[in-house]
Order: sequence, then structure tokens, then C-alpha cells
Amino acid sequence: MTPLTSYSADHKLMVESAARAANLTDPVAFAPHGHYYTLLYYATRGELVPLDGALVRQWATRDKFSSKTPFGVRLYALDGIRFARVCGHTDGQREQSDYDFCVVERADYLKLFRTLLKITRQKADHGPPPVMPDEQFAVMRQHTLGYLDRDNLKRIKELGGRAKRGLLLTGPPGNGKTSACRWMWEECQRNGYEYQIVSPDAYQAARRSCNPVQAVRELFTVHRCGIIFFDDMDVALRDRNTVRETDDQAVFLSALDGIQVNEGVVYVFTTNCSVDLIDPAFKRPGRIDLVLHFEPPTAELRRRLMDRWHAEIRAGIDLNAAVEQTHGFSFAEVEELKNLLILRHIDAGGWDWDWAFEQFRQNRTDLAEQHRPVGFAPLASASTNGSTNGHG
Ligand SMILES: Nc1ncnc2c1ncn2[C@@H]1O[C@H](COP(=O)(O)OP(=O)(O)OP(=O)(O)O)[C@@H](O)[C@H]1O
Ligand SMILES: [Mg+2]
Repeated sequence: MTPLTSYSADHKLMVESAARAANLTDPVAFAPHGHYYTLLYYATRGELVPLDGALVRQWATRDKFSSKTPFGVRLYALDGIRFARVCGHTDGQREQSDYDFCVVERADYLKLFRTLLKITRQKADHGPPPVMPDEQFAVMRQHTLGYLDRDNLKRIKELGGRAKRGLLLTGPPGNGKTSACRWMWEECQRNGYEYQIVSPDAYQAARRSCNPVQAVRELFTVHRCGIIFFDDMDVALRDRNTVRETDDQAVFLSALDGIQVNEGVVYVFTTNCSVDLIDPAFKRPGRIDLVLHFEPPTAELRRRLMDRWHAEIRAGIDLNAAVEQTHGFSFAEVEELKNLLILRHIDAGGWDWDWAFEQFRQNRTDLAEQHRPVGFAPLASASTNGSTNGHG
């Protein structure tokens, strides 16, 4: 058999087998490509069924995107439309399937496509990006979503470049690092890119598993073009029970280096600890290509944030004074003032800026005692600042 006849024979067998499993009489095979993530994210996952009598279950902790079989059929339904995802590699072992496509009843094919477009359009209505200097926003966009652009990646690969990029978002708390990530992952959804959010808990669980490097690598892998977010990475990398932070970072770095990049991946890490406290091995080019610093807002940016407030609030306070009085505040603190204004308005009517400001000050004083240590402070400082976990 030639490779082509062998491929088409396999393909025919798979389509027929999946159609039987999913109860489809006239199946159409399709590859959702850029829509894969949205399709699998919004569909209800059904059971796993054998492919031509064979089924290999995969132990995976990954998100909904994984069909959890390197060889088998996963049934799904979206808006009442049944379809099946077929994954098959002939040795039943490899995680990346040679065959990975979907089948749906011919009569439902267009309906499924339209449903998916509708969902994609609805998702387009997500909130605006955080308030940022225009130039910084453009750079952030260009190095993440712009980087994943098909033509861009194609050109990079043609030129022999790496289809992998690392961004580090730093800056003091409450200035938009997580908000920027949230906006980017919503954009990923909208554009059909895969994305993965690694939480500190998921990282710690992988780190404690019997094969930590493999488990961490799995967490930081996307199967298609996409972005991996590791928000508050310093919290995750800090082992709360021991002082062996450097070991942990070594595992993390070697896991990252060993990841096979298929189509194009961007890593977005965030931390609010100072850049010079981060291990230089982590910051080297190839791991981190760009650092974006999220500063507390200037007067102009505070004004832009307040301009997003409800028209009633804006009409009820002296905006110029509010901008001036919040000098040195983080975005989150300015937003906290807005919440206090609303609370007061609900309780007592009116828009009492002075009350909100005073209340804010009191709350700050109360919180000042409950300091939460963050960052990768050198071990030596642990003994001087009284920290018991070695990470002041
Ligand atoms: N640039 C911004 N534009 C608009 N709102 C913002 C911005 N930055 C922060 N906020 C507001 O403050 C809240 C907290 O901000 P966010 O979680 O993005 O901060 P962060 O930089 O990730 O802080 P941390 O270092 O503590 O994780 C947001 O939910 C949002 O309401
Ligand atoms: Mg954050």
C-alpha cells in the first residue's frame, strides 16, 4: 500500500467506526482548526468509546480541551448537536495524535458551524482591556496575540526562528497584570487560540506528583497555537513547607526547556516581586524575551479609569479633584474608592467622595497590619525579616 492508500483506508475505518459509536448515519469529517478550543470548551463532553474496538484511556489532568485518549473516540454535544472527536495514533501511545478530527451528521454540519460562529461572536463582547499606556498595550498585544498570527509564525519558522516566546509582567499589586492576562485569554477564546491558565495550586500539585518534571511540562503545554498563563508565579514557586525554593525553580526551568513546541506558544508569567530578585536563569532570553512593567497609574491613566465609571458617579463627584487626590494609588485602589462610593450611595444616597476617601484610609490602616510576604527574596533575608519559610 502507498502511504496515501494506507492513510485513506485508516481514515475511512475511523470515520465509520466513530459514526457507529456516535450513532451517525451519514457522517462528515471535519477539522475545526482555529475553532477547536471554542468547540470543545462549550460542548458537553460525553463518554469515551472504542475506535474499531480499541480504546486507550489517558490519565491527564489537563483542561476540557483534551479528549483524554490517544486512541479512541470522545462523544460531545453542542446545543443538542452530537459530534465525535476521533484521535488515533497507530501505536496507541503518543499523546499527539496523527489523526485528530471530528465527525458530525451531514444534516447538522452547517448548523454546528453556525452555532460555533454565534458563540464566537457573543464572546467578542467581553470587557475592554485594562487601562494602560497605549504604547505598552500595543507592545503587549504584538508580542502575544500578534505573535500567534498565522502569517507571523509562518515567517518566523521559514526563517528558522523559535516559535516560542516568553513575557514577564511585573509591577506592584493592583496595577493590571492579572487583568491583562484575563483580557488576553478572552481574546484567545475569541480568536480560537488555545490557552492554559496555570494556577499556583495546579503547579504545586504537579510538583508533588511522582514525576514532577513530566507533570509540570504537561501543565505548560499547548497542543496548538496558544498562550500559557502562569499568574503569580512567585506564589507558586515558593514552597511553603521548606526553604528549597531554588530546587523548585530548577525543576520548573528544566520542565520549561524540555517542552516540545508544535505550532507556536507564548508564555505569560506574572509576578509582583521586583525583577532583580528573580533568578537570572529564568530571565535569560529564550525563556523571557520581554518584560513589561505595570506601574501605578499616572494622572492621565487614573482619569481614563474614572472615565469608565458610571455616568451617575462621574456627574456626582469632582473628577479633577478625584484624579489629584488619588496620586500614588494603584488602579485597584482607585477602583476600591469607586466601590466605597457606591456602597455609601446605596446606604445614604448622594455621592460622598470625602466619606469614601476617609473610609478608604481607615481600611488601609487596618490592612497594613496583615502584610502578606511575596516575591523571591534571597534566603539570607529570611532570617532578618523573621519569615519562617525563607521567602520574605
Ligand atoms: N490597568 C487597570 N485598568 C483597569 N482596572 C484595573 C487595572 N489594574 C487593576 N485594575 C483593577 O484592580 C483589580 C485588581 O487588579 P489586578 O488583579 O489586575 O492586579 P495585579 O497587577 O494582578 O495585582 P497582584 O500583583 O496583586 O496580582 C482589577 O480587578 C481591576 O478592577
Ligand atoms: Mg495578579
